[in-house]
Amino acid sequence: MITHLQDTITLNNGVRMPGFGLGVYKVEDGDVVYQAVNTALETGYRSIDTASYYFNEKGVGQAVKDSRVPRDDIFITSKVWNDQQGYENTLKAFEESLENLQTDYLDLYLIHWPVKGMYKETWRALEKLYKDERVKAIGVSNFHIHHLQHLMDGCEVKPAVDQVEYHPHLTQEELHAFCRREGIQLEAWSPLKRGQLLDEPVLEEIGEKYNKTAAQVILRWDVQNKVITIPKTITDKRIEENADIFDFSLTEDEMKQIQGLNKNDRAGTNPESFD
Ligand SMILES: NC(=O)c1ccc[n+]([C@@H]2O[C@H](COP(=O)([O-])OP(=O)(O)OC[C@H]3O[C@@H](n4cnc5c(N)ncnc54)[C@H](OP(=O)(O)O)[C@@H]3O)[C@@H](O)[C@H]2O)c1
Repeated sequence: MITHLQDTITLNNGVRMPGFGLGVYKVEDGDVVYQAVNTALETGYRSIDTASYYFNEKGVGQAVKDSRVPRDDIFITSKVWNDQQGYENTLKAFEESLENLQTDYLDLYLIHWPVKGMYKETWRALEKLYKDERVKAIGVSNFHIHHLQHLMDGCEVKPAVDQVEYHPHLTQEELHAFCRREGIQLEAWSPLKRGQLLDEPVLEEIGEKYNKTAAQVILRWDVQNKVITIPKTITDKRIEENADIFDFSLTEDEMKQIQGLNKNDRAGTNPESFD
């Protein structure tokens, strides 16, 4: 379990990925994303989660470039979007992401969604990028167990990460157990259910005991569950608040209480029925 903001989790290929990062979905490119990434890096964050689909890789890249933190100390994740899938298209999409991010490698490149009939070819391109040392680790996002099984059947490189919607209303226990068995690191998107969990009385009550907010309780629950988490915020105060979770511990009972809030309810799209 990570014990501080820059602590890392070792992925199945030996690469060390920060257990906590900033997500930038729906953050406007230019000044807004630049400021958020800048504040996060100044606060001590060392991992940024973007995607070609977020259309803000340029601002992320500029903030990383201008930062006092060396590029090598920052972990950048990007993702190949659905209409960029297939072998050649993915290789091209990767180059575009690098150019936008003003970098010559990625730390983690993910297949954003399991586009039927396409993702195995897309994975072959990720394997090539990995073998060519253009990216330190490759993985997937929004893959259910059957997608992972299908992908791994005949693959050369096992996915290092599966990034999925994960929060106290969607605890993904079967997928998490599968990933643990297979050595695939689970990563939580929408860890705060996009703000919809923050007035949940159980979380507020636990938070009161430790003088923490509901958001901090959820993010601490992620950490103790060994799930990498990437909450999104553009608010300076919240960038600090979300990372201020390393000075308290949830008890086993509290962990179970939070786990018990599960109702298999999503804020985002179900990977079985995305468009
Ligand atoms: N792979 C995928 O398909 C996928 C899908 C969705 C998301 N993601 C990734 O996961 C990241 C996080 O998910 P998300 O952005 O959907 O949702 P989220 O992190 O669960 O929630 C973000 C929302 O919560 C608010 N917030 C953040 N911290 C808060 C705090 N301490 N107190 C109160 N409100 C707070 C933010 O508002 P302000 O910004 O106004 O502070 C924003 O409205 C994304 O940014 C993206 O990088 C990946």
